[in-house]
Amino acid sequence: MKGRPERANNVAALRLLARRRLPRPIFDYIDGGADDERSLRRNETAFADYELVPDVLNDVSAIRTGTTVFGQPSRWPLMLAPTGLTRMFHDHAELAVARAAARHGLVYGLSTMGTTRLEDLAHAFDGPKVFQIYIFKDRGLTAEFVARCREAGFHGLALTVDTPVAGNRERDRVSGLSLPPRLTWRSMLSFALHPSWSLPALTGKKFDLANVSHKIDALAGGPMSLFDYIGGQFDRSVTWRDVEWLAREWNGPLAIKGVMTPEDARRSIASGATGVMISNHGGRQLDGAPAPVDQIEAVREAVGGGPDVICDGGVRRGSDAVKAIALGATACSIGRPYLYGLAAGGEAGVDRVLTLLTEEFERTLTLAGINDVAAIARRHVRRRFN
Ligand code: FNR
Repeated sequence: MKGRPERANNVAALRLLARRRLPRPIFDYIDGGADDERSLRRNETAFADYELVPDVLNDVSAIRTGTTVFGQPSRWPLMLAPTGLTRMFHDHAELAVARAAARHGLVYGLSTMGTTRLEDLAHAFDGPKVFQIYIFKDRGLTAEFVARCREAGFHGLALTVDTPVAGNRERDRVSGLSLPPRLTWRSMLSFALHPSWSLPALTGKKFDLANVSHKIDALAGGPMSLFDYIGGQFDRSVTWRDVEWLAREWNGPLAIKGVMTPEDARRSIASGATGVMISNHGGRQLDGAPAPVDQIEAVREAVGGGPDVICDGGVRRGSDAVKAIALGATACSIGRPYLYGLAAGGEAGVDRVLTLLTEEFERTLTLAGINDVAAIARRHVRRRFN
């Protein structure tokens, strides 16, 4: 592989490249999960519990992969999940990711905790985009985001509901990448070994939560008071009534991100959402939560055929997406895979990840004798028990 993202053959190789390129605390922030990281591991290994059962002697000389996600055309059933603090991983940050997504015809998700202003993102690229929103204590702040997203031309909203408090990320505690950072000598050495990085960058530009920073201008504080402000804005008393309110305010494609059960999926739709993202936040919140792929069938059965059901977490191969769709998902979403690509090589690195996953998806369909994404059926996947 010799350190070049273009030569990486799979997501695992790009992960190794990212590990080499980033100071260890930053890599661990991407790579890690909560507590014992059981859900983090399970999200990936659960896919291995499903076998692909191929058809043969179908004409697979042309494969149709197009679908619709958040009401937007998507070249194949994959979207890029929202991730915060992206500028920590590469200076080109969200824009590099969004541009690569658009080139591949995929929907991009921007996080509230992103480091690019939503207006700047929308200005720089006209691909399909959704904004990941929270219901803050200050409902006015949430309403303000809704208005800004509408004005900027975002196509959908994803409401994240699995973060009433931050998960317990022990790798970050060990490295000292906490808020505020309390780096150990070992972590500082790791930064020193990566000259493109400087410690002041940690508390400066790279940590600028551009979408919310205007809120603290008046407080005349540094980045830490911004974090204090945001931390204090998470509201543990959010309920379904707030979802109803948000659905009315937005009146467009809205997915509830972090739904795990058929009951909550049904409730999401009844409350005005148009879809759900089955997610345990990539194993970063409630450790021990089930793998999203294992919940797809029950969730799809609960909501019926119409709503978007997006399987979020653990996708590392195009074949994983085929399995998720066979179980009833509309699409899958990825977080870490594109962040590994970004860290490994900026926009070219994200491009590489998306190229690899696209090729894998198409090759899997071809080998499984399926020539149209709409023809992927339940019989194409079988759960192994052993
Ligand atoms: C995330 N995720 C996330 N989700 C969200 O709703 N808002 C956010 O700001 C973030 N930030 C974030 C940062 C980093 C570094 C990671 C790795 C993840 C979760 C993300 O949207 C998605 O649910 C998971 O990443 C999916 O799992 P995989 O693909 O990483 O296995």
